[in-house]
Amino acid sequence: MFDAEGIKTDPVFEANLFLAMQDCIIAAQNAVVAAQSLGIGSCYIGDILENYEANWELLHLPKYSVPCVMLVMGHLTEQQKARRKPARLSIGDIVSVDTYPKPDADSAGDGLRCLMEKEVEDAPEGRRILNRGTVEITDSAVDARILDTANRKFRSDFHREMQRSVKKILESWCE
Ligand SMILES: Cc1cc2nc3c(=O)[nH]c(=O)nc-3n(C[C@H](O)[C@H](O)[C@H](O)COP(=O)(O)O)c2cc1C
Repeated sequence: MFDAEGIKTDPVFEANLFLAMQDCIIAAQNAVVAAQSLGIGSCYIGDILENYEANWELLHLPKYSVPCVMLVMGHLTEQQKARRKPARLSIGDIVSVDTYPKPDADSAGDGLRCLMEKEVEDAPEGRRILNRGTVEITDSAVDARILDTANRKFRSDFHREMQRSVKKILESWCE
């Protein structure tokens, strides 16, 4: 728009990118809530940050546009409607008030342990019998879960590709 009006906007600062990301994600979240109110399900696809070269071409993106989030929407199947929501970390383990808590090695796995306890509680009857009705999450089980999460999230092919792709996006934004 500014270009069309002959208004020079260079240099484009990274601050614009971060602000635009905020706007975009707020809009996406509102779309999710609106869809939910109409009985329409959705899923964020953060993976849109990967393979930026292919997405740029596919979506005919001009310079300084970043596909920061993709949303897929659709009507839920009966199976999806009946799906039990997975256990979550408790709110106190996600939200910090006024200041970010100092990391503490002793209590680092506490939130996850609570989540794993909830998972056992929520498990179908068969699994509960297997656990003899007791909720006992050992330290090594918590450690294994932390390692598994790190492997899936940060040591995986998708994460390496996302890192490569986002670096390229930032370079193209700043050049
Ligand atoms: C920011 C964000 C990005 C996500 N990106 C993807 C994605 O790229 N691919 C995917 O299959 N799911 C993606 N998800 C969905 C999650 O994997 C997960 O299924 C969902 O958040 C849990 O939904 P539920 O509350 O219905 O269990 C994303 C979710 C969020 C919040």
